Amino acid sequence: MKIITGITELRHHLRDEPQIAFVPTMGNLHEGHMSLIHEAKKRCNHVVVSIFVNRLQFLPHEDFDCYPRTFEDDCRLLSAVNVKTVFAPNEKILFPTTQEFLLALPPVADILEGKFRPGFFRGVATIVLKLFNIIQPDLAVFGKKDYQQLHIVREMVKQLNIPIEIVAGETVRAEDGLALSSRNQYLDATQRLEARQLYQTLLQIKQKVIAGCKDFKALEGNAINHLVQHGWKVDYISIHNRSSLMPASEQDRNLVVLGAARLNSTRLIDNLEITS
Ligand code: PAJ
Repeated sequence: MKIITGITELRHHLRDEPQIAFVPTMGNLHEGHMSLIHEAKKRCNHVVVSIFVNRLQFLPHEDFDCYPRTFEDDCRLLSAVNVKTVFAPNEKILFPTTQEFLLALPPVADILEGKFRPGFFRGVATIVLKLFNIIQPDLAVFGKKDYQQLHIVREMVKQLNIPIEIVAGETVRAEDGLALSSRNQYLDATQRLEARQLYQTLLQIKQKVIAGCKDFKALEGNAINHLVQHGWKVDYISIHNRSSLMPASEQDRNLVVLGAARLNSTRLIDNLEITS
């Protein structure tokens, strides 16, 4: 496995590769990331994984400084599954000057996560586009765990005619249903037990929608109340149309319920697709 930090060296290293699959990450790898790498390996012989904690997608009060950085452990995991290339640039390499060119995003970037983390998707889309331009992969794998991120990357690739296939990886969960996330390690033992409620709540909405309930507003409201009673601060629990990611109407059949809520200062997100 080759670990590369420079752009020129990376381009040189990849220049004769007939097919490249790319998995962008911010490191602190867990089974969720590894499942995306597995998807990439199924499709391409040469997998490039990037590890870069992207300042552009953190708000000033967010956890950029204390975001878990575990580079050596990450490389051990990647080398064990025969990843060929790790791209691990530092900030000077990706931002040699202030990143003044930033993408302007469509309205879908201002709802859900975008409403509570203004500028987040602009930061994500800008770094993903930079990484796409540097690596020029044939395909890239993103997790459904970050459903809106996946949607926005898909739209970016479509609307900007970027010749990269976007592959979606299923969400990997702990035994009790909690979606794996680097931020789960901020939870103490009591919070970790409680954390499963987010998934359980989304699951209940899914079951009720499948059973025929169409009163989405009531389902969302009840779910929020339930979580608040359990000590959560809820940003949103919301049922959306899967293809537009706009709020669902009664006629929609392909749905996704998305949620974001905080236990103390730890913010968790999750979602479940629903076909009604
Ligand atoms: P990061 O949070 O490290 O996630 C990297 C990829 O792993 C994303 O596509 C995310 O959806 C996926 N992922 C995270 N948890 C998962 C789980 N439990 N199951 C399946 N996939 C999971 O997302 C980012 O980094 C950044 O925004 C990035 C795209 C790298 C741009 O900076």
